[in-house]
This record gives sequence, structure tokens and C-alpha cells, in this order.
Amino acid sequence: MKHAILETGSRTFIALEKGFHGKTLGAVQLTSNQDYREPFLIDGLTVHRVRANDIAHLEQTFARTGSLAGLMFEPIQGEGGVREITAEFAQRAAALCSARGAPLIADEIQTGMGRTGTFLACEALGVTPDYVLLSKALGGGLAKISATLIRRERHVDKFDVLHTSTYAEDDYSSGVALKTLELLDEAALAPERDDPDRHQEARDREHDVHEPHQRRIDRAWKETREQAQHHARDERQGVAGQYGHRTPSPWSRPPWNH
Ligand SMILES: Cc1ncc(COP(=O)(O)O)c(C=O)c1O
Repeated sequence: MKHAILETGSRTFIALEKGFHGKTLGAVQLTSNQDYREPFLIDGLTVHRVRANDIAHLEQTFARTGSLAGLMFEPIQGEGGVREITAEFAQRAAALCSARGAPLIADEIQTGMGRTGTFLACEALGVTPDYVLLSKALGGGLAKISATLIRRERHVDKFDVLHTSTYAEDDYSSGVALKTLELLDEAALAPERDDPDRHQEARDREHDVHEPHQRRIDRAWKETREQAQHHARDERQGVAGQYGHRTPSPWSRPPWNH
């Protein structure tokens, strides 16, 4: 949301009824559920809500909206009851955003990472969002990480300085995420991407594919746990410096890169 505001200079968003985008102060403004939102409403941000898959309502909302920071939607609404957005609605939203110069923002936190068969659920809707939000499965079940992908030509460079955080750009979680993407690509998505007819064949081989994948995840877990135990032991034994010296943190690199 901060990047969209920076890019467009607008503080008006369009979101969908029954949409869920989280509960942090900014995101909860776009979340539809009033119980989560109303205690934390903030001034200075306008959010118009559109009925999912109602193209006429979408067009009317654009018509009465001046400057626009972006339209955020989930390709399949998760918390809203597993409701699919239609390709027609998504494509119309993309066209209206494009005409307005505002980013189409796909929240793929639940649907991304191959969860619906393609890497992004948007692929099946025939739209290429300007921003994509990923999280959850991105951490491979090991790390807590989220990512905002922004089309290169829209990226505002100074955002990297204006939006930093203690836990952002963390090597350990990023390493886990990269490994997860690699495993996902080779184990799950590659057979379908290369040849859709191999889908059934891939299903038949699911056990063979899943097994090594699971073994690697298990090994990563084991190594991570062992390193955490070593680190805790070092701390207990006072190796981590009575004089302010600290042993190098095992978390600075993912275990499989040591
Ligand atoms: C679609 C979607 N967007 C956003 C979020 C919020 O993520 P976070 O809880 O990390 O703020 C969630 C969490 O469940 C989600 O399902």
C-alpha cells in the first residue's frame, strides 16, 4: 500500500467486498470484515469496496473515483469463503486500472506458490498484476517471510530507503524462500508447465516426487534445529562474550549453504 501511494500520489484504494488482506493498520483498511476494521479506521485513506464479480459495480466505482492508488484483490477469496474471481471481472479490473495508471494488486498470499496449479492463480484469470503479494508457503513451512513483487518499470527506487524494517531483507528467511521456490519449480510446477499432457503422469509420479522433496524439507528442519541448539549452548556457556564478543549467528545463512 505504501508503494502504491508513493507511486501514484493517491490515497484512494479499491478493494472487494469479502476481501481479506490482513490486520496490520494499513492492510486492515482494505479488509472487508467490519469487526476487524472498525476499531482501527484511520483518516486520510479512502477505500471503495466493490462486489466481487459485479462488473457493472466495478465500472460505476471507477467512474466515481478520481485519483486511484490501486485496486487490491485476491484471485480466490480465502477468508471470504473460498470465492473465485471470474476471469472477466479480473480482466476488466486490469483494463480499468491500466487506463487510470493505477496498479492492479493481486494478494496471492493464499493462492500463490502453485497452490492452484499455476505459480500464481492470476495466470488462470489471464491477468498480469502490477504488484503481487506472496507469503505463507513462500517460507516453505520453515521461515516467516512475505514479499511484494512490483513490475520493474513501476518500481520507485527511493521506496527501498523509505520502507525498511528490522525483519526485512533477512538472509535466513530469504534463503529458505529461494530454496522453496527452487523445490517448487522442479518438483511441482515443471511437469505441467513443460507439457500439460504430462499432468496425469506427474500425478502418477506424485509419490516419487513428494518423497525426496519431503526428505529435503525434513533434513533442512533437522539442521536448523541442531544449529539453534548449538547457538543456545554457546550462549549458555558464555562463549558469546563477557566482553561484548558474540559468536557468528548461525541464522545469517540458511543451513544448506554452510
Ligand atoms: C489473502 C491474505 N492476505 C493477507 C493476509 C495477511 O497476512 P498477515 O497476517 O501476515 O498480515 C492473509 C493472512 O491470512 C491472507 O490470507
